Amino acid sequence: YEKREAGINRSEIRAFTDFPSKGIVFRDICPILKDPEALAAIIDLFEERVRETCPGVELVVGLDARGFLFGPLLAQRLRVGFVLVRKKGKLPGPTASVAYTLEYGQAEAEIQEDAVEAGQKVVIIDDLLATGGTLYATCELMKKQKAKVLGCLVVIELKDLKGAGPNRTRVRVLPWSST
Ligand code: PRP
Ligand code: ADE
Repeated sequence: YEKREAGINRSEIRAFTDFPSKGIVFRDICPILKDPEALAAIIDLFEERVRETCPGVELVVGLDARGFLFGPLLAQRLRVGFVLVRKKGKLPGPTASVAYTLEYGQAEAEIQEDAVEAGQKVVIIDDLLATGGTLYATCELMKKQKAKVLGCLVVIELKDLKGAGPNRTRVRVLPWSST
């Protein structure tokens, strides 16, 4: 997560200890959303990075729920569609799902079967990478749908948790987004 003159910096992300459960330091992105310059700077960086490294992207795939805050803004900049990956039980019609473990629990990621076509090039977006369980499950979901994941974007990477995996191969995180 890079500091840019446009006004994003680490102090905009607040830390709350023991939330949502004991031992977790929760990184709260709400101040970023409240600050239009910071939010614009983040979307600028996402757009710049996708244009540089993910040519031919056709869809932005956002993760429930905080990926929904950044994903549609980026998709509009790129003039591509936005697709939701939701927690299980929220989407109507035929769906595909993958169960996973995250830093503070377990969940199941679900997508509408017709949301992504085989061969489509996608980038996945979320607010934060902790253990990588959520992003990894979404990559699995994309594989099930035969989509091609060009990259994963996050605002914050909790590096100590090594969610991007050894040599950062488990999830390809675009380089500027680490903290
Ligand atoms: C949070 C965060 C990421 C995920 C990261 O979502 O927004 O999606 O955890 O954790 P991981 O890398 O260990 O998988 P959460 O499931 O809490 O959903 P929310 O956005 O609805 O709060
Ligand atoms: N999701 C998983 N771990 C998190 C953390 N430490 N802060 C905010 N969201 C998270």
